[in-house]
Amino acid sequence: MTAFNMIRFIERKRDCGKHTGEELHTFVDSVMRGTVPDYQISAWLMAAFLNGLDDDELMHFTKSLALSGETISYQPEDRIIDKHSTGGVGDKTTLILVPLVAACGSRISKLSGPGLGFTGGTIDKLESIPGMDMHLSDDRFREQVNTIGCAISGHSLKLAPAEGKFYKLRDVTGTVPSIPLITASIVSKKLAGGAYGYLFDVKCGSGAFMCDAVRARELAAKLTDVSKKLGKTCLSVITDMEQPLGEWVGNSAEVYEAVEVLSGRGPSDTRELCIFLAAAMLEMSGRAKSRDEGAELASKALDDGSALDKFAEMIRAQNGDASVVREPLKILPRASHTYEIRSDRDGYLSRLDALLIGEGLRALGGGRLTKEDVIDPSVAIQLPHKVSSKVAKDDVLIRIYYNSEPRFRESLAYVEKCWEVSERAGKRKLILDTVY
Ligand code: URA
Repeated sequence: MTAFNMIRFIERKRDCGKHTGEELHTFVDSVMRGTVPDYQISAWLMAAFLNGLDDDELMHFTKSLALSGETISYQPEDRIIDKHSTGGVGDKTTLILVPLVAACGSRISKLSGPGLGFTGGTIDKLESIPGMDMHLSDDRFREQVNTIGCAISGHSLKLAPAEGKFYKLRDVTGTVPSIPLITASIVSKKLAGGAYGYLFDVKCGSGAFMCDAVRARELAAKLTDVSKKLGKTCLSVITDMEQPLGEWVGNSAEVYEAVEVLSGRGPSDTRELCIFLAAAMLEMSGRAKSRDEGAELASKALDDGSALDKFAEMIRAQNGDASVVREPLKILPRASHTYEIRSDRDGYLSRLDALLIGEGLRALGGGRLTKEDVIDPSVAIQLPHKVSSKVAKDDVLIRIYYNSEPRFRESLAYVEKCWEVSERAGKRKLILDTVY
């Protein structure tokens, strides 16, 4: 093989050329060995952002990122399933799905990244349970999946470390919103995590990475294509994120809502989405013969308490206070002040903007602007009505739970603009599309 020439490599992508698998592998390897300076990596990222990567390049780049560090492996016959959401406001599905799918008899492993921006992170949410260890070693993580059927943990830096390096540079070079680069980033981490099949929940709407349906569909198709090319069973579901999911937005508040849904109660949209996604995962793992059978198993596990018991088992295994499943309001931190926004007329709730609500929560201290920001798990925004609900004048549309007056005022500037009551109901679909 001729020596790797980084300048030629950048020029090829700049001029819309195609890289071989070997070149991409050498590139990632050189980045890991520290022989390529950040300015050259950044130049290539911009070229790839502008000119794209074709399916072959994407598969090789993804694989090289995945193999840049340690990997977790399971017995293939165990058909471990992993789930990934592209992130949204009030998206607590992971908290519910992981114990739910395990309670139905499939094994599920969930490695999560940190929450950044206005969408909350699963790790932050679960850390509002006292004692909860969200940073398991790879061995302990795998052991827990094998013994109790499920685990959720922060992504260890040893898995796909090159991806972390590329992501940091994308974050500061304006190259994050590229569908091939996002796909390689997501799938490489899944691949290193060792699962047999993946379910991708691609959020679409104002409170999501992908604001429009065309881009969401494109990302969903790429995630599915690349995963399949890499030998994985895979399904992408596109779901609505124009309004937040469920009734609660906030770290401890979302754990509360998860406990409600796992107890057979909770908001109908959160329950509906979790049953839909669980059914797909149960079919993928072979535990259910069809999606309908999977949905039946999942509904039963929510209603008979077995999913809630599995959640308690997972919390105990990760050193958390499992009494949160019986007395969530006693165990979870809650903010000290409340403010209510009421409807100024009779009508239908026609808009509940997820982005503004997400920004409102972040302003309260419930999300991060920088990786160093410390989260306040107790602050929350409650949304008692969903878009298209009939409301009367003076009905409470939004409750803000806060601890600091200046933060509340900053948050209110977003939240007071997030809603609209009209004469006609603006209906929204929750599950927009499925990409096989
Ligand atoms: N989430 C990821 O994991 N990677 C991206 O590039 C974007 C969102």
